[in-house]
Amino acid sequence: MTEKTQYLQEEAAQMLQNVTVKTAYMCERNKNGIPYTVKDDGFYNNLDYMDENPDLGINWWTNGFFGGILWQMYVKTRDQSYLEMARVQEKKLDQCLELFEGIHHDAGFMWLLTAVADYKLTGWKEARIRGLHAATILAGRYNVNGKYIRAWNGPGGRDYGSVIIDSLMNMSLLHWAYEETGDPRFRAIAVSHTDTIANYFVREDGSVKHIVKFNPETGEAEGSLGGQGYGHGSAWSRGQAWALYGFTNAYRHTKQDSYLELACKTADYFQRNLRTGDAAPIDFCQPAEEQYEDNSAACIAASGFLEIASLMDGEPARQQQYADTAWRLLRRVYEKRCCLDCGRDELVLQCAVSYREREDGPHTLIYADYFYLEALLKLRQQALQIW
Ligand code: GLY
Repeated sequence: MTEKTQYLQEEAAQMLQNVTVKTAYMCERNKNGIPYTVKDDGFYNNLDYMDENPDLGINWWTNGFFGGILWQMYVKTRDQSYLEMARVQEKKLDQCLELFEGIHHDAGFMWLLTAVADYKLTGWKEARIRGLHAATILAGRYNVNGKYIRAWNGPGGRDYGSVIIDSLMNMSLLHWAYEETGDPRFRAIAVSHTDTIANYFVREDGSVKHIVKFNPETGEAEGSLGGQGYGHGSAWSRGQAWALYGFTNAYRHTKQDSYLELACKTADYFQRNLRTGDAAPIDFCQPAEEQYEDNSAACIAASGFLEIASLMDGEPARQQQYADTAWRLLRRVYEKRCCLDCGRDELVLQCAVSYREREDGPHTLIYADYFYLEALLKLRQQALQIW
């Protein structure tokens, strides 16, 4: 280890130590709820409720991330209380499996971070069944005509043609189900959907679209939408982060070189377009003078960059470049956008649900906190491999 690497490792260890101390308080305070965003009082809200709208409350797409934090904390500390708290989260999500109609493509985010994480760590059969149940529902959303997995359910459950870049991350649930059962349907659907994303979402310059609309009967692509980004044709930074991390996962599971090339292409766009001082804007196309940031994108991308770097053994220069970018993103969040006050819940600050909600929307998000912890654990080779 060089002197510089030694120094960085010590710094990373200190960052991780401070973040886990704070996270321990947050976990204890929220163990009976399902946190999503921090309220004005400094504490997380609770989405463990039934809502008239089947997309909200217990079915909300982020409801696995707190479970993911608890499993990562369990791996880090081996403290049994984290396992117990994580199991509470896992069981809460059984309501979604029973309700069924609120489940969307984010089944990956919900059950990879809870039941599948549990099964990987403990081998508990009940957790395996939950994971396979969720994977089967996700596979059932595949549209054969368009070769895609439908994203949302929409009003009356009738949105059959929307596909979103975020879905790439959820493919890991199908890869896991294939690796666990040997049933090739799961892999075939994941690969087919990933190829559709590769064909319709990735632009020449490496930026990605957020939403593409397909005709569910003919399978034809009918156009794209700016979605949570700045506008039509723009490059929403969190979507870019989902893309670079999602293609990396696809490569790790399949070893198909084209996926690694897409991971690098989308990652290079992200790196090239960071703002002064390595700030991640909400959208890389937002006006140059606008300072709005989305640090959830920074944390997701940092973890994705570390993942790409771990897979690029034959290319040391590129490997180092991706690892350096990850380090710069994580360090900036630590120094400028991190709340280490143990009396408050929020960790990563200045996040954005979307460009539209840049001022009045939530600015702390449970998944930013999750990916920050995951990436710091990766720096110290202590992360549970979730994806
Ligand atoms: N998956 C939805 C989002 O990233 O906001």
